[in-house]
Amino acid sequence: MEKTVHMGKNLTGIAMSPLQSQQMIAGAENATPTGGSEYALHEVGKDYIEEAMPVGSVPLPGTLQGALKAIKDKLTGQHTEMLLNKMGERLAFERSGSRVYECFITKCEAAAAHGTLPDSLSLDRARQFWQEETRHFAMLRDVMTALGADPTAQTPDADVAAVASMGCMKVIQDPRTSVTQSLEALLTLEMTDNTGWEVLIRLAREMTMDEIANRFQRAQEEENVHLAAVRAWYQDAVMAEAGIKTPGAGARAH
Ligand SMILES: [Fe+2]
Repeated sequence: MEKTVHMGKNLTGIAMSPLQSQQMIAGAENATPTGGSEYALHEVGKDYIEEAMPVGSVPLPGTLQGALKAIKDKLTGQHTEMLLNKMGERLAFERSGSRVYECFITKCEAAAAHGTLPDSLSLDRARQFWQEETRHFAMLRDVMTALGADPTAQTPDADVAAVASMGCMKVIQDPRTSVTQSLEALLTLEMTDNTGWEVLIRLAREMTMDEIANRFQRAQEEENVHLAAVRAWYQDAVMAEAGIKTPGAGARAH
């Protein structure tokens, strides 16, 4: 079934029921709080923030070996926990990124079978990006293992990033969404991923782990290509659905 945006029986707008919408507005205006106020609600929220525990922890630095331990001993004041936290975050993000591309490619293949795949989108390149996400995950696993860190531990920021990206993943996994809608969600993930690599590279360089930073740098160069391609695919797909011709679209795919 074609998933392009179309006019239909959408009843969600207030204009669909002028009479009942007036009653709803009158009801809202006449409603009075039964107790407390919005300010009291904010205060309750602050109490929860005050009392809440942080989201998990990084495995103890004492488990680190080799280079990382040496760096920790040498550079007092620098928190290698944050480097591990962020490595764990990227590792989890790349692993789920691989699954996201897998779902996205399935959606693209279904669209291609119906001749509705956006012209600018190259399935071969999407498959290449899928492989690269998987390789980035494997590289991070190897780096963490070499440092004596446990790559299977879920670090606090891996947890938080997974929660933050949940909506994008749901959009891409939803069989009802179009390739264009999935591209918008994929773009959000790639933009976040790109900045994630930047901060990880910076952390590694500041902690004088240049060899590791160089490996991260090579991954980010590939991520830059993903971001540019997904951004172009998304914009071209929106234009195509709007019936606007973009002469460069086909050329960009290859
Ligand atoms: Fe990527």
